[in-house]
Amino acid sequence: MTASRKINVALAGLSFGAEFVPIFLHHPNVESLTICDSDPEALAKIGDRFEVEKRVLDLDDILADDKIDAVHLVTPIPLHAEQTVAVLNAGKHCACTVPMAISIDDLHAIVAAQRASGKNYMGMETAVYTRRFLHVQEMIKNGEIGRIQFLRGAHYQDMEFWPPYWMGLPPMYYATHAVSPVLALAGRQAKAVHCFGSGVMRPELHEQYGNPFPVESAIYELSEDPPLAAEVTRSLFHTARGYTESFNIYGEKATFEWEQIEDEPPVVFRMKPVVTHWGRGNDITAERLDAPDRQDLLPSAIARFTQRGVYDESQAHLSFLQGGGHGGSHPHLVHEFVSSIIEERPPWPDALTTAAWTAAGICAHESAMQGGVRIEIPQFHDES
Ligand SMILES: NC(=O)c1ccc[n+]([C@@H]2O[C@H](COP(=O)([O-])OP(=O)(O)OC[C@H]3O[C@@H](n4cnc5c(N)ncnc54)[C@H](O)[C@@H]3O)[C@@H](O)[C@H]2O)c1
Repeated sequence: MTASRKINVALAGLSFGAEFVPIFLHHPNVESLTICDSDPEALAKIGDRFEVEKRVLDLDDILADDKIDAVHLVTPIPLHAEQTVAVLNAGKHCACTVPMAISIDDLHAIVAAQRASGKNYMGMETAVYTRRFLHVQEMIKNGEIGRIQFLRGAHYQDMEFWPPYWMGLPPMYYATHAVSPVLALAGRQAKAVHCFGSGVMRPELHEQYGNPFPVESAIYELSEDPPLAAEVTRSLFHTARGYTESFNIYGEKATFEWEQIEDEPPVVFRMKPVVTHWGRGNDITAERLDAPDRQDLLPSAIARFTQRGVYDESQAHLSFLQGGGHGGSHPHLVHEFVSSIIEERPPWPDALTTAAWTAAGICAHESAMQGGVRIEIPQFHDES
């Protein structure tokens, strides 16, 4: 298969999903983009703004269209599992925003559908394509961090006034922005979890999911030896903490720690390799890190979408500012999904990896609902 091959893509769900429209439109291996939203107003607004001709209101029209090779779902959380299985069963590659699903049964159903279809499934996890993730991954590869001794992830976000399906969501059902960087950088999966629910939430927020907790905090035992643990905390309601999606990696040689206030630089601590004086404790230095933008990993036509900027400079009426957002991850996600199809290889993260990250959150909530008991996390294996 040549690198010049082009595919036809559809994008469903045009609220957050609108961020991806210009990236697909400019990707050199995308022949055409069809946009889909069940809300005619959203469809018209985004279609007109980006001058997209192919527009449909119903995902079924995409499933029935033999010319469409791949679908990116950015629809509400409760629809992800059913729509993903439908896309794969229709013989199309599927990328889906997070979370993959909110039950273990649905994770298995998606993994089975991916396997049976032979098509690609990619979890569109923004947290593993940010500038900081890509930089810390390099630091680990080149030995700067040394042996990883502990990891910590946190995602604090207030969800008041968000769409109804968010109201009372168990915090750990949407944990992958904190779980995935930690597990990916450790190079392991979560084996078991203890999690505690914390705080008090107003009673009507308990109704939709039977969840009483505004905050959940988990400690994971990771797979393989030597022993390694990771702590992950999520808050969604009634907690006065500014937004962050963060990870910390504590290494024997260096530690990467996220800042407390968004938009400040993170910190790298480094320990001198040998005791250099006769005092107590090794010397540890601290410096602020400016993680580089990795436009070099992207085709030039979409590289600028890592930054805040004007999407289409050539057409004045299309010129408007919109955030590159989520640490510059969006064009990397699109490029990985499209390239994996062109190159006929699994994407990263694939169905098994995404299911493992998502299951870690679902099992954490189960533990919290049982007072913090140890829950074994299902492992998703390649059966080929
Ligand atoms: N960092 C991230 O990865 C990140 C950030 C934001 C949102 N998300 C995820 O993206 C998804 C969408 O979030 P949002 O804030 O845009 O949600 P939203 O509810 O504001 O918008 C969803 C859009 O999907 C459309 N829609 C609903 N049902 C549909 C259907 N059956 N077919 C086609 N379109 C349909 C709606 O009309 C709406 O335009 C959520 O699952 C959320 O978890 C991920």
